[in-house]
Amino acid sequence: MAPRIIEAVLISLLAGSASAGLQWGECPTDAEKSNGLDCATIKVPLDWDRPSGKQITLSMNRIRAKDPGARIGSLIYNAGGPGDAATTEVAAFGDGSFYMSDDLMKHFDIIGLDPRGIGRSSPIQCDYDKYNNPATLFPKTDAEFQQLIKYNKDFALSCLKRSGDLVKYVDTVSVAKDMDAVRAALGDKKINFLGESYGTQIAAAYSELFPHNIRTLVFDGVVDHSLSETTLLATETIAYETEYNRFVAWCGTESSCPLYGQNISQQFDDLINRAEGSGIDAPECKGVCRSPVTAWDILTQFQNLLIYKEVDPKYTYPPTWDFAADALKMAFNGNLTNVATPLAQDDNADGWQGQMVNCLDWNHDISSLADVHYYNQLMKSYAPHTQGTAQSYSNSMQCIGWPFKVRDGNRRTLPKKTPPLLLVNSLYDDQTPYDWAVGLQEQLANSVLLTRDGDGHTSYTLGGESSRLIDAYFINCTLPAENTVVDT
Ligand SMILES: *[C@@H]1O[C@H](CO)[C@@H](O)[C@H](O)[C@H]1NC(C)=O
Ligand SMILES: *[C@@H]1O[C@H](CO)[C@@H](O)[C@H](O)[C@H]1NC(C)=O
Ligand SMILES: *[C@@H]1O[C@H](CO)[C@@H](O)[C@H](O)[C@H]1NC(C)=O
Repeated sequence: MAPRIIEAVLISLLAGSASAGLQWGECPTDAEKSNGLDCATIKVPLDWDRPSGKQITLSMNRIRAKDPGARIGSLIYNAGGPGDAATTEVAAFGDGSFYMSDDLMKHFDIIGLDPRGIGRSSPIQCDYDKYNNPATLFPKTDAEFQQLIKYNKDFALSCLKRSGDLVKYVDTVSVAKDMDAVRAALGDKKINFLGESYGTQIAAAYSELFPHNIRTLVFDGVVDHSLSETTLLATETIAYETEYNRFVAWCGTESSCPLYGQNISQQFDDLINRAEGSGIDAPECKGVCRSPVTAWDILTQFQNLLIYKEVDPKYTYPPTWDFAADALKMAFNGNLTNVATPLAQDDNADGWQGQMVNCLDWNHDISSLADVHYYNQLMKSYAPHTQGTAQSYSNSMQCIGWPFKVRDGNRRTLPKKTPPLLLVNSLYDDQTPYDWAVGLQEQLANSVLLTRDGDGHTSYTLGGESSRLIDAYFINCTLPAENTVVDT
């Protein structure tokens, strides 16, 4: 035991944080307990520039390596969002409802680390009533534009009031520093990290801050943090519309699609037109979703529903295109529940964490109603059906008038010498377009982009060929050849 304790102390000294190893204990949920997961917390500084100032708590869960003799180390997982709790998804790996290969589970402790402000880590709480009654993100008049600015500011201040200064420090550079503190506390000299979607932005920040602490970093569904707000919006708008069109074409040829044989585009456009402006009254929402349901609600939810075309039916966790088609079918028949925004039920809800992060992570260029109109015209010209109502648009509009300083504005990622890094993206990803992956790959000198010639957002949890190539990288540090393209 003694050498281990000394090692733990040394590591915590090296990490420069107050952590002295981790105390693993029982997890809070029955599913985690019955599947043998354990849980731990660690304290990190709220502000990494003031390491001995106020501390916050990060939470994590762990699936221990199934073959301790073959254990390589820990593999930290991030579920994306921003705002998604990694502990939830790692719990799903643990009970087999979401894919993680036996090979990885044999060689690694799988760590679900909830980023600061998210999941079980020191949470961001906000006024849920304000959240449930937002201003329109499509202001048409100066009065509506001023209302949006006021709303964003009031909402942000409601979070400050409940959560304190944490709301000013959930930027991704701070998250990457937290992750390095966790690496050290886990006793790992080098990190292994699987970042999904927004998690790739954490990986990019980590590669710049700690290039010497990397063993393997996987960027799955890639965010390019160097893009301007307009380019982000334009590229995501095109990607969402492209994927929508592919969904409609798929439904037209797959007899299993719940909308097979129907004119989907016409019904979809009619629904969106009816929901424009003040929205469609949805009594079926009854306390579970926001009513009236606006075009923004439907288009935002539908983008998320396109995330996976199909998955092995034994994995029940994510929605697939069948579910998306079914949600639309119900909506066409008058029940909007599955295309409406879920209502927050209290100040601890989890709808707003992503906004908190994005408002600190990107420079926001919109400063007038005229700017909004330019955006809206750009969106409609590129995307007659989905109208550019993609995450990037919401991020821009929800941050206008934000009262806290941007801490990690967009810029190129230019790490010093790193080990080889692996990026993965599908060609038809409606949330992180392929161009974002190509863009980040150009910035990371020592990296390979693995292309999946298929649909949907992120690849690892589909369990296909790309997952096996990712496994080989994590386990053996071998990369696929440049320009490798796989179908699954
Ligand atoms: C669907 O309806 C639209 C609008 O009426 C029409 O332009 C289009 O040709 C129709 N598509 C099919 C496949 O019938
Ligand atoms: C609407 O759909 C939801 C989700 O499938 C369902 O739970 C609910 O019972 C439906 N409501 C009505 C009024 O049909
Ligand atoms: C890692 O390398 C070993 C030895 O070459 C090989 O047997 C194994 O299949 C590789 N693992 C993966 C996941 O590719």
